[in-house]
Amino acid sequence: MAKIFADMEDSNASSNPSIHEVSALSRRTVLRGGLGAAVTGVLAPLAGCATGGPAASTRLGFKSVPVSTADRIVVPEGYVAYVIAAWGEPVGLSGESPAFKFDATNTAAEQEAQMGMHHDGMHFFAQAGRDGGLLVVNHEYTDDGLLHRDGMATWTAEKVRKAQAAQGVSVIEVAPTAGRWDIVRPSPWARRITARTPMRFSGPAAGHAMLRTAADPAGQRPLGTLNNCGAGRTPWGTYLTCEENFAGYFNGPDAPNAHERRWGLRKGGFGYRWQEHDERFDVTKHPNEPNRFGWIVEIDPSNPSSTPVKRTAMGRGAHEGATVALTRDRRAVVYSGEDARFEYIYKFVSRDAMKPGGAGANAELLDHGTLFVARFNGDGTGQWLALTHGAGALTAANGFADQGDVLVKSRQASDLLGATKMDRPEWIEVDQEGWVYCTLTNNATRGAANQPGIDAMNPRANNTMGHIIRWKEAGDFDGARFSWNHFVLAGDPSNSRAEAKGNVKGDAFACPDGMWIDARGVLWIQTDMSTSAMGKDDLAMLGNNAMLAADPRTGEIRRFLTGPAGCEVTGATSTPDGRTMFINIQHPGESPSERSDPAQPRRVSNWPDFQAAGRPRSATVVIHKLDGGVIGT
Ligand code: FEO
Ligand code: CA
Ligand code: CA
Ligand code: CA
Repeated sequence: MAKIFADMEDSNASSNPSIHEVSALSRRTVLRGGLGAAVTGVLAPLAGCATGGPAASTRLGFKSVPVSTADRIVVPEGYVAYVIAAWGEPVGLSGESPAFKFDATNTAAEQEAQMGMHHDGMHFFAQAGRDGGLLVVNHEYTDDGLLHRDGMATWTAEKVRKAQAAQGVSVIEVAPTAGRWDIVRPSPWARRITARTPMRFSGPAAGHAMLRTAADPAGQRPLGTLNNCGAGRTPWGTYLTCEENFAGYFNGPDAPNAHERRWGLRKGGFGYRWQEHDERFDVTKHPNEPNRFGWIVEIDPSNPSSTPVKRTAMGRGAHEGATVALTRDRRAVVYSGEDARFEYIYKFVSRDAMKPGGAGANAELLDHGTLFVARFNGDGTGQWLALTHGAGALTAANGFADQGDVLVKSRQASDLLGATKMDRPEWIEVDQEGWVYCTLTNNATRGAANQPGIDAMNPRANNTMGHIIRWKEAGDFDGARFSWNHFVLAGDPSNSRAEAKGNVKGDAFACPDGMWIDARGVLWIQTDMSTSAMGKDDLAMLGNNAMLAADPRTGEIRRFLTGPAGCEVTGATSTPDGRTMFINIQHPGESPSERSDPAQPRRVSNWPDFQAAGRPRSATVVIHKLDGGVIGT
């Protein structure tokens, strides 16, 4: 999510130090001196960095595409890309197939049967014995300048309901007909999950006093999910969706208390104005309602009548995504970061092993286990600190009466334990060799006055380009310790063919966000340079947001796809054979902010429909190799 409300990301005022600062020598190398230095004057790769290998890649078989500012998708020679499932397309509910209206006059009720807005994380669930499957898609947020014909000029309960309906998750059945994929309508699996869908809590914080409201005095039955950013899938066949910048949906108090401040609540929030017609989103009336968001939500796409479950054992946070690995004895390990400046990286280790039998047999697997937060050391090691009530400082004397308190206030608990403040942790992926990769998208306030300075893990002040860190656990994924290095510092000249620096390791990019590792071990990197930063200063040479493929064995990175103007590229997944890839294009045309001007909705982009009376639409994109081969070969 590009953020116009930048200060909302800065709610970590904890005094735990930004530990293990790098040496004075290293620090000098990051001093910036004009544009050239800003782009290229970065640290040499750390020891063990993947960028030290030979130039030739064995796994990237395509010719990279150049930087683009065009309002279209560009893929390499020999590939084709086309759109399905744009915002507003009917998802295929039985008897409800309202056509999208290009002038944005669909009603809230119609939106409840259509694809939501601003597609983000997703996963393709193959179905045995057939080519098709279920595509589950997150909808991160709404641009109310596009969602309603006249934007927010008038503000009604109907508009709030439409915005709530455009949030959440879509489950669609997709299948190829004569080689071309589309939504299957109607489909018994089609489903919309919105900001109003009944859900339940499970795990140690279910029923906790901080989750109780007037409408749900037992604290067990929350309504809805929102700001669904990254996603994950479990080996037992369910989908995990995360509630990232939930605080922005709430009208906070004039004078937030310490807990509310730490979670970024403030008067007016991000300006969604839901509270004007739905008082649930007014913290001054319902102070515990924000505590009911920020959870990882498990959805069983194979059972359309199942109730989504907010799994509290994995902790509360502005989680970007949730990525599941299995230990050798088949316990689930869920990695998640909080995408906000100076926030933390977490992992949850289940108590029990995964059982055969799919979702039903593992319905409580994510309810019992231990949540940890990461402390990185400057010497390339790190450790996981348990967020367990009663352990160490997490006691009643320090404000944590029970485990529910620790989970609802996981940020404060992590502050107390001295977790490491990172440069906006976005997606996490695990490769076949056990490396765990995390995109650290950027952090322009690293090193600014009264902000944490650089450290070995986050080695650039004013980190406008971001980096990817990776670690390997000691022993197994449940290891208490790990070793880490940088996979790539974005903008590194040794990784910048565009700058013709001689050492051709690959194509330049900035602000890594989405990530996916395919069955061959290729690491796909999707970028999210914010609208406000795109095309300026350090990022001027990089054009539109893009998707690149990296071969971790060699460190080579090639640009595979460039997106339309003003978009973010996100949400990679594929069919099991690797021959059909799905990605999402989010917020094409976003400019100058996250709220478009309804009078000029096509000012920057008119993708993908290019209708004179249309509006740019987020959409899923299908990618094929023309020869039918595996994507990326
Ligand atoms: Fe929703 Fe952190 O991007
Ligand atoms: Ca985004
Ligand atoms: Ca982002
Ligand atoms: Ca993101």
